[in-house]
Amino acid sequence: MPVIVVVGCQWGDEGKGKVVDHLARGVDWVARYQGGPNAGHTVVIGRESYILHLVPSGILHPKPRCVIGHGVVIDPVYLLEEMDGLQRRGISLEGRFFVSEGAHVILPYHRWLETLDGDDVRVGTTKRGVGPTYEQKTGRCGIRLYEMMDRARFRARLEEQRDRIAARFRGAGKTPPEPLEGIVDRWIETYFPLADRLRPFVTDTVPLLLDAHERGEKILAEGAQGTFLDLDFGTYPFVTSSTTTAAGASTGLGLPPASLRRVVGICKAYATRVGEGPFVTELPAAEANAMRERGGEFGATTGRPRRVGWLDLVQLRHAVRINGVTEIVLTKLDILSGQSEIRVCTGYRLDGRNLDVPPVDTANVARCEPVWEDVPGWNAPLGSLRRFEDLPREARDYIVRIEKAAGVPIRTVSVGSSRSAMVRMPRPLVRA
Ligand code: IMP
Repeated sequence: MPVIVVVGCQWGDEGKGKVVDHLARGVDWVARYQGGPNAGHTVVIGRESYILHLVPSGILHPKPRCVIGHGVVIDPVYLLEEMDGLQRRGISLEGRFFVSEGAHVILPYHRWLETLDGDDVRVGTTKRGVGPTYEQKTGRCGIRLYEMMDRARFRARLEEQRDRIAARFRGAGKTPPEPLEGIVDRWIETYFPLADRLRPFVTDTVPLLLDAHERGEKILAEGAQGTFLDLDFGTYPFVTSSTTTAAGASTGLGLPPASLRRVVGICKAYATRVGEGPFVTELPAAEANAMRERGGEFGATTGRPRRVGWLDLVQLRHAVRINGVTEIVLTKLDILSGQSEIRVCTGYRLDGRNLDVPPVDTANVARCEPVWEDVPGWNAPLGSLRRFEDLPREARDYIVRIEKAAGVPIRTVSVGSSRSAMVRMPRPLVRA
């Protein structure tokens, strides 16, 4: 049974939460493979809205079992808050929610380091300590969840971290936000009870998923953020610190690369970005404001207003190729209603040359000029439509235009935030 990977084709916030929720009905397992509490996956069910930061969106269905893989960085405070919130709303976790003991733990000093390094401002991060935690992971000095489960071992690791943090602050000529005297006791006091509460859910999730995969069960790997926030493929250094692309599902969960044969790429009908970094198709402020309000484009995690722009087909094509996207879900098409003309970026111009792949050098991405194609818009609201044939002709043409550029079928189009606001596409697709 191929593993399904859900991946963002832009800078995150493409609507992955809703798509995972939609696909989760038909799978046995939903597993998060990277990122941390920087993510915010929104699912609207009836009048209830759920924003999930760490727990996979599949938890909102009764059937799938859910996993947080070792590729994720976990803040125990946020995780337990989220678990408590779900249980208060009647969603059961016992026996169906598993957290990898190999996942790295976000602790208060990671947030201190983020501010000390200035990445919160330079990159415009979510300030959740995600970057410094991954930095310690690759620096081979991070704390993994299994170490937190043993009080003596946890204490020894925290003492080592305290000395490390002291040296970092001394080196920068700054004082830590809290005195380090007695800090290990305070950390133990706060965090060890959390470890105890997490204990029933903590396990080695690799054999759990491999056994399920070998039994032929359906696994959905849920990505966070998007392709252009990937540590390698994104607009470095304006990226997050993990592998957000489909390959991360293999390293972050332990599933074999060849099992990732169905890759669902999520693409918004326009583009948004939160934080710093180049954005070739960004709209001027006045137009961006209108679209931001219509689309509710404010961060699910930080509440920050998202930068807004037109759809970038250069990015989309690249995302399809890097991730091996086999099908696309186009989201938020309804937000474009009322737009008399819609622009799409079909290529980049740099120093008199045409480019059809984004440059690796981020300074060059920032200098790229978009090549625009203007297509007619439509007025009718789309929220109540469920069939492709019922969409206005201009909306259908827009979908077909995107599909042609992407080179893979658009399977579903989302036209509203509710679970049912989906248009299934007729087959065959990828028209000539
Ligand atoms: P970090 O992941 O908090 O280190 O932030 C690095 C960059 O990724 C910043 O530009 C953030 O705004 C962005 N980012 C992180 N998580 C998300 C997300 O879930 N959606 C959109 N942008 C994100």
